[in-house]
Amino acid sequence: MSSNIVWHSHPVDQGARAEQKRQRPLVIWFTGLSASGKSTIAGALEQILTGQGYHTYLLDGDNVRHGLCRDLGFSDKDRQENIRRVGEVARLMADAGLITLAAFISPFRADRRLVREIMPEEQFVEVFVDADLSVCRGRDPKGLYAKADRGEIKQFTGIDSPYEVPQKPEVHIRAGEVPVAEAVNQLLDYLHRSGVLQAGYQPVALEA
Ligand code: ADX
Repeated sequence: MSSNIVWHSHPVDQGARAEQKRQRPLVIWFTGLSASGKSTIAGALEQILTGQGYHTYLLDGDNVRHGLCRDLGFSDKDRQENIRRVGEVARLMADAGLITLAAFISPFRADRRLVREIMPEEQFVEVFVDADLSVCRGRDPKGLYAKADRGEIKQFTGIDSPYEVPQKPEVHIRAGEVPVAEAVNQLLDYLHRSGVLQAGYQPVALEA
């Protein structure tokens, strides 16, 4: 840790930025196995929110690992550092006044708790995107489960690397059972009930 560093408060703070955007900043943190639907659900929610005039940003595991976290692999230690960095970025984005969506496997409870702890009170929502390993394996959009089964990828979450299920997530999505639109409506309902979204939002039409 660096020494001789003093926090400097600036005249424009989170409150001012949030006021300008007319919204309550928040981090919506999606956790779940690879191929559970985190990115898809987060992307669909973001599309609805921006369509309604909210200011958002989506941080996505696969994308962040192309840049900010390109030096990190999938050991426990690297995943811990991945979530620490992304947690700090999410905090900055919420501080900038944005509704920030983060979609990372984030397999370890302690790392998710640390992100919650650096956020101001009531600005962190944990969303458990819960799909059974068998469902994720069946989807396998990137062919990674098949590679892990053949031993070509080591330390794959759910196979030879652990996933610690959230114990008290704010939102629990049964992503193996419900369509994306229903998951998005569940989230919109939660955000509405908790006062993040203003009244009058339109639920997404469910597919037949
Ligand atoms: S985390 O564990 O550090 O939170 P993160 O969400 O950034 O993971 O990245 C997960 C994505 O990386 C997966 O969706 C998958 O596409 C890819 N990936 C590559 N190798 C692995 C692995 N060993 N375990 C899990 N995901 C992997």
